[in-house]
Amino acid sequence: MPRTFKGTVTSLPPDKSISHRSALIAAISEGTTEIENYSGGLDNQTTLGALQQLGVAVHQEISGDQLSNPRRKVRITGGGLRKLASPAEPLQCGNSGSTMRMLSGILAAQPFTSTLIGDDSLMQRPMKRIVEPLSEMGASFTLSETGTAPVVIHGTTSLKPISLRMTVPSAQVKSAVIFAGFHAEGITEIIEPVSTRNHTELMLGLKSSRTSDGATLIRVYGGRTLHAKVFHIPADPSAACFLVALGVLGTGNELLLKDVCLNPTRISYLSVLQDAGASITFENERILGGESIGDVIVKSSPIKPLRISGDTVAALIDELPMLAVLSAMATNAFELRGAAELRAKESDRIAALVVNLQAMGFRCDEFPDGFSVAGRANTSPAHVSVRTFHDHRIAMSFFIASRFTDAAVSLDDADCAAVSFPNFFDLIQSLEV
Ligand code: S3P
Repeated sequence: MPRTFKGTVTSLPPDKSISHRSALIAAISEGTTEIENYSGGLDNQTTLGALQQLGVAVHQEISGDQLSNPRRKVRITGGGLRKLASPAEPLQCGNSGSTMRMLSGILAAQPFTSTLIGDDSLMQRPMKRIVEPLSEMGASFTLSETGTAPVVIHGTTSLKPISLRMTVPSAQVKSAVIFAGFHAEGITEIIEPVSTRNHTELMLGLKSSRTSDGATLIRVYGGRTLHAKVFHIPADPSAACFLVALGVLGTGNELLLKDVCLNPTRISYLSVLQDAGASITFENERILGGESIGDVIVKSSPIKPLRISGDTVAALIDELPMLAVLSAMATNAFELRGAAELRAKESDRIAALVVNLQAMGFRCDEFPDGFSVAGRANTSPAHVSVRTFHDHRIAMSFFIASRFTDAAVSLDDADCAAVSFPNFFDLIQSLEV
């Protein structure tokens, strides 16, 4: 039975990317950084745990409604560059690729050896992409034979600056090199032919410019002391994406999503949906702590099928699961090419999307770099068991779909949503009218 959803959402999770970066920057700054509205998502809590293992003082204060809408203020006291303590145990990065990759940039510059490990998913994700540039800067690493964790880092206090032209668009790799660049003597340059999220640059006040071939050039001046400051974390646009899909699907929905990060490097999915006909508008746009934020209003609206390929993929990378499921549900059609990177996320998201969309009755063709949906079986299955592969974005995408189908849909692991969106299920339920 299709449902209707209405309401104002003030409890979207704080942005995962900005939360990670605020904690990492605090750990290498001198003094006590205050982070207002730090995320309670498991990935972000993992970053705090790893920093504590490195001797960083972390104090977390929870206020507001502890169950439905907790608000976290985190105080982190850092000692400055190269001041982390040698960890007694391997650093636990859980499910968080951001923690493992970005923290590696900082550990490359410490005068000790550290080992980073994670859960089954993270232990299978590619790590050579950070090892290559950070080795060129002078740290040494060992990885498993397949180029995955455990990541063993032999840090050095004499990192060299490099000039890196990114081959895979990745904000995590870029940020790891920026963090290492702060510890190097001289100017580190990063050239990004395809732009990725730029929170690290904004938070560290780095200037970027354009090269003659249209790439973005970021310069990091090494050796500068970082001083503690206050960070305010806006709501996560990648989490908002699930609410946007909820709002677009069905009939009669109207949702107002408050204080969402509207950084242009994060909201390409909103333009893609607007271009496809979705009713999405913005209000109260303003700047908070260097980031654009505002309210997003979304209403049920018919959309055209989404076809995504080429350089747009990088800017949509985290929203592709929800966009694929939304397009399939709304139009019985979807096409994605040039997205092989999606196979290296928390799960192989191409395979995960195909297997679950097929279980819902959609006709799919899978390619090495994407997949397409062309039509749906005439009779829908009465029951669908979604295989989440313990991937938060797969679980949440299919839960949104389940609100608009007659099938009884179950998820084999609903708890994994807590990686980025702990109150997801309660929030969706509270919006049903
Ligand atoms: C992130 C970058 C992206 C994204 C991830 C968060 C970040 O990963 O998928 O969820 O915060 O920098 P890649 O850098 O691997 O593309």
